[in-house]
Amino acid sequence: MKRRNVLLVDDDAHILEVLEMRLTALGFEVTSALGPEEALRLLAERGFDVALVDLRMEPLDGIALTRAAHEHQARLPVLIMTAHATIENAVLAIKEGAFDFITKPFHPEELTTKLNRALLERRWARDRELLHSIGEALASSGVVEHVLDVIADRTLEATETERAVVFLRADGRVTAAAAAGASAWPVDGLVACAEAAIAGRVPTSVTGAQGRVTLSAPLVVDGVAEGALVAENPSYVVPTEDDLSLLALFAAQAAVALKTAREQSRLRGGALAALGRVATQVAHELNNPLGGLRLYADLLENRLGKLADAQGVDLARKISRAVTHLGDLVTDITAYGRPAELQREPVAVNALLEECLALAQDRIVGREIRVVKDIDPSLGEMSLDAREMRKALLNLVLNGLDAIGESGTLTIRARPADDGGVDVAIEDTGCGMDAETRARVFDLFFTTKPNGTGLGMGIARSVVDRHGGRLDIESEPGEGTRVRLRLPR
Ligand SMILES: Nc1ncnc2c1ncn2[C@@H]1O[C@H](COP(=O)(O)OP(=O)(O)OP(=O)(O)O)[C@@H](O)[C@H]1O
Ligand SMILES: [Mg+2]
Repeated sequence: MKRRNVLLVDDDAHILEVLEMRLTALGFEVTSALGPEEALRLLAERGFDVALVDLRMEPLDGIALTRAAHEHQARLPVLIMTAHATIENAVLAIKEGAFDFITKPFHPEELTTKLNRALLERRWARDRELLHSIGEALASSGVVEHVLDVIADRTLEATETERAVVFLRADGRVTAAAAAGASAWPVDGLVACAEAAIAGRVPTSVTGAQGRVTLSAPLVVDGVAEGALVAENPSYVVPTEDDLSLLALFAAQAAVALKTAREQSRLRGGALAALGRVATQVAHELNNPLGGLRLYADLLENRLGKLADAQGVDLARKISRAVTHLGDLVTDITAYGRPAELQREPVAVNALLEECLALAQDRIVGREIRVVKDIDPSLGEMSLDAREMRKALLNLVLNGLDAIGESGTLTIRARPADDGGVDVAIEDTGCGMDAETRARVFDLFFTTKPNGTGLGMGIARSVVDRHGGRLDIESEPGEGTRVRLRLPR
């Protein structure tokens, strides 16, 4: 095993010398710093496994140095040495992030025990963190992209590197799927390292330009190296063996997460398709009896009208309305399975947007909702299926109003696009969407509302697609949502 790297700091040259000899004899690799300033210089240049620091030093004492050291290496275990241990400075030191305290003069055995414990604890702390965060990623969502993002983020945190990138192999090419860190993109320079780890199927370290060391560990799913997790270090950090095995451990967890997420999404895809087929069939079967029901309700209303039974007429009308609503739902579901041909005609875009707002009016009254219309008056007519497009836009408006709750702002923007089409945006200051909702928002029957059907967004996108346009969503939890439509001329 590689020897552990100890940073030894004392402003007494004699003590430093004695300790260095002793630690070297114990099998450690020792780097000595005569005072805190030299120690900080060394910390800026490279990584250490553990630090042994004197308490009484000028101009920084051991506690202040611990704090400064953690700015370079957040999880470096620091052991503080002192000739005069008091409970107060022990408590203070631990509070400032020191790992432990050791009283001079110390017994060699005590020193070894404490150093080893610090080293072990560091591994445990890191491993615990890793497993915990990957576990969370797995639990929080089965969305592959999200899992990969979390893996990149957590790798960055846990390995204290500069950049972490997840590469995946598809069709023989290795491309980046998620990245985190300072200036995360572009990642071209890291592809070679990822390819090396994938080809060799072992954790690999590559020294590149400017002495940067890049670590890479393969993501092995079902025995196949499907990608690699790559961590790039800043040029002044020399990663330790520990860092590489840590990355390998993380990659193993990442591979499990990836596999689970893929399985979930495959299952979900299959289940949704099956659900869609069943729903369409059921909807179809409902169509005829619903037609009959509406007819009977209308007849009943007529008869009761002739008998001047106002209450009866009212009830019959209620039945009729409910049946109409069900009929609309059935139409939506069947249309989703087999969308009708578009009936295009010249449609005034402004008027269409106004109409949608008017239709949503009864959902606004009694709430503190401000509606902002930022619609370019020069927008002319476009060839659209007015009925379909109205349905799509109205759902977007209603979703925005639902998200807002009691008070907020709904903004409708429309302006001519460069290609002669129109850009429409519907924005709300509502609850926004979390990653899972964002990923599933177009799924048939995905809803977070107690009375939602989860059809609206799927229909909206299908309508926009069939018009040759695009629909994009920008949304963050707590920061509202913006849905953008691009409709081509
Ligand atoms: N503007 C928005 N802000 C926040 N969440 C939204 C927004 N639009 C959609 N969503 C989320 O996406 C889900 C799906 O929306 P969708 O319109 O497909 O169905 P729904 O509104 O729940 O039901 P319905 O079929 O009646 O429209 C919603 O339940 C909600 O969680
Ligand atoms: Mg909706």
